[in-house]
Amino acid sequence: RTLLLTFFALTLSTPFALARDAKPLRVGMDVPYAPFGVRGPDGVLTGFEVDLGNAMCQEVTGQDCEWVVQAWDGIIPGLLARKYDLIISSMTITAERRNAVLFSEPYYATPSAFFTRASSEFDLSNTSNTRIGVQRGTNQERYVAEILPDAEVVRYTTTDDMYLDLIGERLDAVMLDAPVGIQWAEDDTKVVQSGDFIKEPARIFGEGVGVAMRKRDRKLAEQVNAALDKLKNNGVYDELMAKYFSF
Ligand code: ARG
Repeated sequence: RTLLLTFFALTLSTPFALARDAKPLRVGMDVPYAPFGVRGPDGVLTGFEVDLGNAMCQEVTGQDCEWVVQAWDGIIPGLLARKYDLIISSMTITAERRNAVLFSEPYYATPSAFFTRASSEFDLSNTSNTRIGVQRGTNQERYVAEILPDAEVVRYTTTDDMYLDLIGERLDAVMLDAPVGIQWAEDDTKVVQSGDFIKEPARIFGEGVGVAMRKRDRKLAEQVNAALDKLKNNGVYDELMAKYFSF
């Protein structure tokens, strides 16, 4: 009887196994970055990009992505060193990064913004003697360094350290992707947005957010683009947008 069962199991599973790429896609992500990606106390990753990434990986390989948590300032080196094969981490498509990686089509676009404490006197038009936090290696770091030369730029490896220094009054303000700051403000009434959304200049803020891959992985990029297209057309993308972005 065992033999018979094995035989059926083999004939049943073979066509499926052939139709699918056996290996999961390994994807690098920096957390915490709610609502895009955050690691719960149980170690499980959740968020818009985690759900979208898993749906995309399912299209390409028939299984969820294999997530690799990686600090943002080493995320492109980690890709090039083959720690993972894709980056899904709110990475803005810029001309400079195109020199190092291959991007998918954009899967969303988001402005940046400054966030401060409700009690702070932070004023964007006068930033001398002002400490502004940014995550190291982001387009916000570049913006503050180039556009606000009077300000003191304080660079962080992780966004949670930056958040603690804002709350702890060791920073006057932070600049980051607006949805992340809006999430902070929702979770903690001490945090407020300061000023408008910032999208310019395009050379710094780029053309939306994409999946990054190694330059030679053209076939993978085609598969990723086809999967993203499908998710945009079959309603999955819109469902995830509605789930994570109520504002
Ligand atoms: N969008 C910004 C950039 O590409 C910041 C992204 C930071 N992402 C993250 N998961 N920490 O520079």
